[in-house]
Amino acid sequence: MNYYKNKRLYIDTLGCQMNVYDSDKIRQSFEECGCEITDSASEADIIILNTCSIREKACQKAFSFLGRVKKLKRNKKVAIGVCGCLAEQEGRKIIERMPYLDFVAGVNAIYRMPEIVKKAAETKYRPVDTGFDNPIEEPLLRSPKSKVDISEFVTIMRGCDNFCSYCVVPYVRGREISRKPESIINEIKMLVANGASEITLLGQNVNSYGKKNGTITFAKLIELVNEIEGLKRIRFTTSHPKDLGDDLIEAFKKFDKLCPHIHLPVQSGSDAVLKRMNRQYKIKDYIEKIEKLRKSVSNISITSDFIVGFCQETEEDFNMTLDLIKNIEFDGIFAFVYSPRPNAASRKFKDMTSEKEKKERLYRLLKLQEYYTKKKNKDIVGTIQKTLAEGLSKRGLFKNEKKEWTGRTDTNKIVNFITSKDYEPIGKIVNVKIEKAFSHSLWGIL
Ligand code: SAH
Ligand code: SF4
Ligand code: F3S
Repeated sequence: MNYYKNKRLYIDTLGCQMNVYDSDKIRQSFEECGCEITDSASEADIIILNTCSIREKACQKAFSFLGRVKKLKRNKKVAIGVCGCLAEQEGRKIIERMPYLDFVAGVNAIYRMPEIVKKAAETKYRPVDTGFDNPIEEPLLRSPKSKVDISEFVTIMRGCDNFCSYCVVPYVRGREISRKPESIINEIKMLVANGASEITLLGQNVNSYGKKNGTITFAKLIELVNEIEGLKRIRFTTSHPKDLGDDLIEAFKKFDKLCPHIHLPVQSGSDAVLKRMNRQYKIKDYIEKIEKLRKSVSNISITSDFIVGFCQETEEDFNMTLDLIKNIEFDGIFAFVYSPRPNAASRKFKDMTSEKEKKERLYRLLKLQEYYTKKKNKDIVGTIQKTLAEGLSKRGLFKNEKKEWTGRTDTNKIVNFITSKDYEPIGKIVNVKIEKAFSHSLWGIL
């Protein structure tokens, strides 16, 4: 008898878009074994948490989730396990800490999970499948029955070879590997045929796509994706400043589906800090690249990531970061207090700054950026923005005569906009006149 008949899987996802993509694939691989998917952990026969370990907080989130689901192990038949980056990092230690867990699947084992779960159920053994000896197989192609969203992620490469000194990713995701172009193109065609309008190409450093295996460059991959009929928009994340070349800057002009937005994490405004982080660029290089991007694509939106309070960051270093924020005027940023990671080289660096001081710096940085985010949003009030409608907004139908939708501009800003109640824009790119700007969104009229 099929082990998965009448079984239900619940999967929760922490971490970045790559985990969202992986969870989708895991869901699909269980579906293909005849398993059903449920949104309710308490009704599930199999509970999986796809974890992240980028910062300590992400790890704590995972442990508290696992603590909560313990009570759902109402009988021995409910299988609970973990996969993803924290699972890779901790391996068997997670089971020792939480003996009610049945399996641990590392990042290269994610497509073997139906096998792993079955093995856990049929033997007394609790499988721990981590490490990088067995290469990850190509993702399964989505069968048409799966639900395809308007905007979908496609991982084009895995792992990372950069070894930024603070970062856990090279240890938990392994060496950088690019997927084959044909496999990526086929997957995108399948997604588009089933309703996707926008694709975000994912990798830790998309600029180095194909370099190691000598296939095609990232700019060439964009060209191929741009040719896919029916696809409306292309996005990508993340780009490493040291590898951002002229061909990618040119790509924004050349390929009409490529959205004018780049997420280019800078981490700090101080060369001394960047050196300790092993980022391999100087602030001068970063500013030059931004200037080139803006010269080439005048409306390009630029977002970034920052780490505050990295080992030995002085007040002077931090002020250089604030100066960079004032100088560049980013459209938006993510910022985090530095969190020491196991394995990462910075673990051994001296760190004199107190946690309190780091939190204060984070607050000052976010406060400063808030002004620029709002300013950037205000700048486009009165303009018409091409917006991809993704669904009804929280407000939905109002006054019984208008509908409010939510979508994003090509520059990746969230827009809520109203139309007459009979209009259905989902999946279309529509012209929205922007009337109001808020800190995190825009509001307009079709
Ligand atoms: N590959 C991407 C980033 C992936 S991690 C890149 O190189 O840009 C996403 C963000 O998390 C990073 O940009 C960084 O700002 C933050 N981050 C990574 N490790 C961290 C750590 N140990 N402490 C705090 N923030 C961290
Ligand atoms: Fe981490 Fe650096 Fe790789 Fe990004 S490029 S994943 S920050 S090691
Ligand atoms: Fe987290 Fe792993 Fe992504 S550590 S940020 S889920 S690559």
